[in-house]
Amino acid sequence: MVGEPEGDSLVVTTSLRPGSGLDARARRIAADLQVPYAPRQDKSTAHLVAETGASRLLLVGVERVALRDVSNEIEYAFHPNMTPVRAAKLLHGGRDPFAEATGLGPGDRLLDCTLGFAAEATLGALLVGETGLVVGLESVPELAAVTREGLRTFPMPQPALAAAMRRVTVITTDYRDYLPRCASGAFDVVCFDPFFPERLPGAENSVSPLAHFGNPAPLDAASVGEARRVARRRVVVKHPRHEPLPSELAGDVSDIITARHSRLAYSVLPALPA
Ligand SMILES: C[S@@+](CC[C@H](N)C(=O)[O-])C[C@H]1O[C@@H](n2cnc3c(N)ncnc32)[C@H](O)[C@@H]1O
Repeated sequence: MVGEPEGDSLVVTTSLRPGSGLDARARRIAADLQVPYAPRQDKSTAHLVAETGASRLLLVGVERVALRDVSNEIEYAFHPNMTPVRAAKLLHGGRDPFAEATGLGPGDRLLDCTLGFAAEATLGALLVGETGLVVGLESVPELAAVTREGLRTFPMPQPALAAAMRRVTVITTDYRDYLPRCASGAFDVVCFDPFFPERLPGAENSVSPLAHFGNPAPLDAASVGEARRVARRRVVVKHPRHEPLPSELAGDVSDIITARHSRLAYSVLPALPA
């Protein structure tokens, strides 16, 4: 049912000709997000927008789920991007800075506090295997919905990677709420990949759709402190190579891992003693 969206309003619909089951999936996603569902019924998205007053549409397709800002047509659709390349390298014994920084192995538990499109959570799931656990937190509910659906339905030809994607548990929450509720040592590794200023909208290098819709809140030292309590081994923070962590965190960094020619680095902070 179409409600009465106002202001910054989100409406869920399906791709133009929904196959069997797609309507039900879109309705479920709308119900989870507590936003209106608008049946597509062969209407153009412009028609739907005029009819519902939506400012953003969540378009549910069989293999593609996308979030669209109708005012500027910026669209975020789940895509694993470089994950298959990084995964193939890992599976062939190659080096990956995230794998190195986290030191994850079979059976480990990873908490990814900034899930985004789950590239690193998926690599984490590959590293920890079937006996491990990967939990990803995303504070923007519609991004969490896109990533949750994408991880479940994206057609990934590599079986090991497809299985890793399906193993990531997505939780819609802010890490500032979640971390204080975790027991000490609940995860082996906790990681963060916040938007640093150079990746935010308006910044020279950042026009990524994820940055357009994502939570821009900077990483705060209190959350990293909580993460060091929740981690049994270490906390890993990804950041631009030339933009070190803020001074209140930099003093606790035990290692910085980078890849040659990469603009990014991973700072490692040890867990707090139990
Ligand atoms: C740079 S992206 C992370 C990309 C991710 N590492 C990947 O591999 O796809 C940051 C993501 O974290 C989310 N985020 C930012 N602050 C958050 C918070 N306090 N709690 C949970 N998620 C947060 C943003 O909405 C965004 O989706």
